[in-house]
Amino acid sequence: MATTASVYIATSLDGFIARENGAIDWLMDANASIPPGEDCGYADFMSTIDVLIMGRNTYEQVAQFDPWPYDGRRVVVLSSRALVFRRGAGIQLEASTESPRSLLTRLSAQGYKRAYVDGGQVIQSFLRERLIHDMTITTIPILLGSGRRLFDTLPREMKLRLASSKSFEFGFTQATYLACADA
Ligand SMILES: NC(=O)c1ccc[n+]([C@@H]2O[C@H](COP(=O)([O-])OP(=O)(O)OC[C@H]3O[C@@H](n4cnc5c(N)ncnc54)[C@H](OP(=O)(O)O)[C@@H]3O)[C@@H](O)[C@H]2O)c1
Repeated sequence: MATTASVYIATSLDGFIARENGAIDWLMDANASIPPGEDCGYADFMSTIDVLIMGRNTYEQVAQFDPWPYDGRRVVVLSSRALVFRRGAGIQLEASTESPRSLLTRLSAQGYKRAYVDGGQVIQSFLRERLIHDMTITTIPILLGSGRRLFDTLPREMKLRLASSKSFEFGFTQATYLACADA
């Protein structure tokens, strides 16, 4: 069975995932204000993931997190550069220069079921190849005004189906969209 490519990401109301310089302080601040124990479905989502695919920019951000957030899971970092990876127990990092389609084909052949695709440019490249199966997007009530975009132009439009949506009393909204097979 083919590996499903899934997105789980937070954006500002105006569609940015980070400031121009890559900072996510606004997201950290927002997350710090939510009730203890609330994770907006992240742990449930992660329990369905057996591999992560992320862009080099996202890797450089998460490499600073302590502890390493993807303990025991394989993480493929897309980059054209020679990367020196963080090392440690439970860290399974590898670099790839493959196209989204080639990478997913390889992961499928290796038996991976569901990939978490992360990073704005990488998500955009998977969308351009129509490889994203589902997207859970949490919207934070802030207008950043500028920054790094979640979405960019596409060669043609893509219809989506709203699978679920919810609002949290602390102001976040979350929607899960499925890509329509024929669109
Ligand atoms: N709001 C959130 O929930 C959230 C989630 C994730 C990340 N972020 C933030 O978003 C920023 C990262 O996103 P980003 O859009 O700047 O970059 P990104 O998608 O994480 O990384 C882009 C880089 O990945 C490499 N790459 C290799 N193959 C690629 C491909 N097929 N498609 C696209 N990129 C490919 C390129 O690096 P080379 O130059 O090395 O070739 C490219 O510059 C960070 O600041 C991170 O903290 C926020």
